[in-house]
Amino acid sequence: MTATIIDGKAFAAKVRGQVADHVARLKGQGITPGLAVVLVGEDPASAVYVKNKGIQTKEAGMASFEHRLPAETSEADLLAVIDRLNADPAVHGILVQLPLPGHLNADLVINAIDPSKDVDGFHISNVGLLGTGQKSMVPCTPLGCLMMLRDHLGDLSGLNAVVVGRSNIVGKPMAQLLLGDSCTVTIAHSRTRDLAAVCRGADILVAAVGRPEMITADFIKPGATVIDVGINRIERDGKKKLVGDVDFTSAAKVAGAITPVPGGVGPMTIACLLANTVTACCRANGLSEPEGLTA
Ligand code: GUN
Repeated sequence: MTATIIDGKAFAAKVRGQVADHVARLKGQGITPGLAVVLVGEDPASAVYVKNKGIQTKEAGMASFEHRLPAETSEADLLAVIDRLNADPAVHGILVQLPLPGHLNADLVINAIDPSKDVDGFHISNVGLLGTGQKSMVPCTPLGCLMMLRDHLGDLSGLNAVVVGRSNIVGKPMAQLLLGDSCTVTIAHSRTRDLAAVCRGADILVAAVGRPEMITADFIKPGATVIDVGINRIERDGKKKLVGDVDFTSAAKVAGAITPVPGGVGPMTIACLLANTVTACCRANGLSEPEGLTA
């Protein structure tokens, strides 16, 4: 068997197009959705993400506000910036780029964001709302994975889903979303016994462990849908390379469908950030939410 490749780049472009259509409609009503991104320090990878977020926000027709603060910014000063953004009616979404420098308490900072503007879905209120099946802001990467799964498989109800990884950013919210779509969900992790056997029970396998090419063909049930969240930079044969958590070449011989790295889940994350910003803007203005762009 050779797996169907799920083209995240094309799918993300479609989502961005839908977002841009909604933004145009909102602007027709005199409302411009706005996204504020806060970057503390000079981490080069974070700086690239923030730049791309700004570009794509503007391309979708939204207002983009960037706040670059020095690495030594105090917690009080950062919290004051967040307070101002919380109170600013032109700002519908706030994202504080992680990781933060070590002297800043990320939980404290994230929980200072107005939950209705928390487009990352990391605020404890949104985590609780998602866990209890209530309307919330949903973390962008798992939301992107869910959109691709629904698009490829249709109804997910009754399918066995295994999520490998238990992070607050991907693993746990991914499991909640799959449960919300009536999958039978297992969260596996580094202490799971016979991980390969657990994974082989999966109709849907989501790999979010951060270990390059750890999931090989023998972890995969023939015909399964494999979503690879990993983005790992490795060096092979003297060349720098980007690989996922799944060994793509062997896995594609067994899986029914698989997301590549790069060009799979990655592009969906920013597309879903834009979607969440439009959703937050609609909710703030008492308007109906964009269809197909929420969980
Ligand atoms: N750093 C890496 N991924 C993310 C993300 O999804 N949101 C935020 N805020 N920071 C990140």
